[in-house]
Amino acid sequence: MTTIITNIKQLVNVRTENKLLRGSELANLPIIDNAYLVVQDGLIKDFGEMKKLSTVDSLQLTENIIDSSGATILPTYCDSHTHIVFAASRESEFVDKINGLTYADIAAKGGGILNSANKLANTSEEDLYNLAYKRLQEVIKLGTGAIEIKSGYGLSVDAEIKMLRVIKELKKNAGIPIKSTFLGAHAFPIQYKENKQAYVNLILKDMLPTIEKENLADYIDAFCEQGFFDIAQTETICKAGINAGLKVKIHANQLSSTGAVQLGVKLNALSVDHLEIMDDDAIKSLASSNTIGTLLPTAAFFLRMHYQPARQLIDAGCAIALASDFNPGSSPSGNMNFVNAVSCIQMKMLPEEVINASTINGAFAMEVENEVGSISVGKKANLIFTKDIPSLAYLPYSFGSNLIDKVMINGVFMNQNNS
Ligand code: NIG
Ligand code: FE
Repeated sequence: MTTIITNIKQLVNVRTENKLLRGSELANLPIIDNAYLVVQDGLIKDFGEMKKLSTVDSLQLTENIIDSSGATILPTYCDSHTHIVFAASRESEFVDKINGLTYADIAAKGGGILNSANKLANTSEEDLYNLAYKRLQEVIKLGTGAIEIKSGYGLSVDAEIKMLRVIKELKKNAGIPIKSTFLGAHAFPIQYKENKQAYVNLILKDMLPTIEKENLADYIDAFCEQGFFDIAQTETICKAGINAGLKVKIHANQLSSTGAVQLGVKLNALSVDHLEIMDDDAIKSLASSNTIGTLLPTAAFFLRMHYQPARQLIDAGCAIALASDFNPGSSPSGNMNFVNAVSCIQMKMLPEEVINASTINGAFAMEVENEVGSISVGKKANLIFTKDIPSLAYLPYSFGSNLIDKVMINGVFMNQNNS
């Protein structure tokens, strides 16, 4: 089946070369004004300027013409850091924070990640799947066309495996590329408070072998932070993950400067994520590496923390991606349009930079760059059709409006109304 989409006001992020963007390259967003796009069997087959369309042979063979009548079309967002498998929301902690408690205070009194783990332990695999599937549908309608999902609210062998099986099932049914990350090292369960090594051993000796055997994860992650996993524990766990065939991602420098960025670089991590608290050494280390810095500004927004120093990172030449961190504790939203708006408003990233960081670089941060992340021949027709907007900058500028008219996944429009 071939479809030609005509009269596209702007076709955004058109690329022939598949390349991770670093530093000043992020500001270069290739666009074709007044364009057409050909979709065949769910993939992008061709595109170009409208005025050249009459010479395209495929026009004669086309079964289907969609007049986009002035929509801007972008590749769907690639959200490379989420925790969308969770059992329940945590808005009472949100109120606790309004009343003055910090994220660390809440964690210390058994709230936070441990609160989510308690709820998840008592939720069936089927219920967890249904809850996560619903969230997935919601974020696809908001423009996400590829996603990474972490475990980490299990914290026992059974519950971690249960989460990863849910992600495996989502991979089968979701229709968009999904990557799975094992985050057993998210927090120490209460019963291991006095014997943390025993929990590390559980990860190494009980969780990882099952995960490897059942092929349940693509990546290993750890929350490297004071009160959570220290550098030595993070290194041990990540190395065991590497031995089990998993690439590394690290929750790094969210609440303090821990050396986790440098550790990630040393372990050739695919990405180090968060990066609210950076020093010169961490920035230099990241800039001179192949590791992607994934910024999660809506977590900083929600927790009233320092925003990531995006300008410094870009000026130093780092490869930057943007992701939502969708989770019940620190970023209860998977709205990538809002992530982009906050990145422009609070981190002074340019509209072109945020689109590159949330599409092509997000794709690289979960190794799906050959399938999605740009308008390129052979990639999936996973596309955002905007409402009538005066310019691309209007998207992050008009931060409270939903400017997405339609989302196409594998060449088929999502139903924007039903779930
Ligand atoms: O990425 N920082 C650690 N993990 C999550 C928060 C998880 C939670 O509070 O439930 C994050 O922000
Ligand atoms: Fe996270």
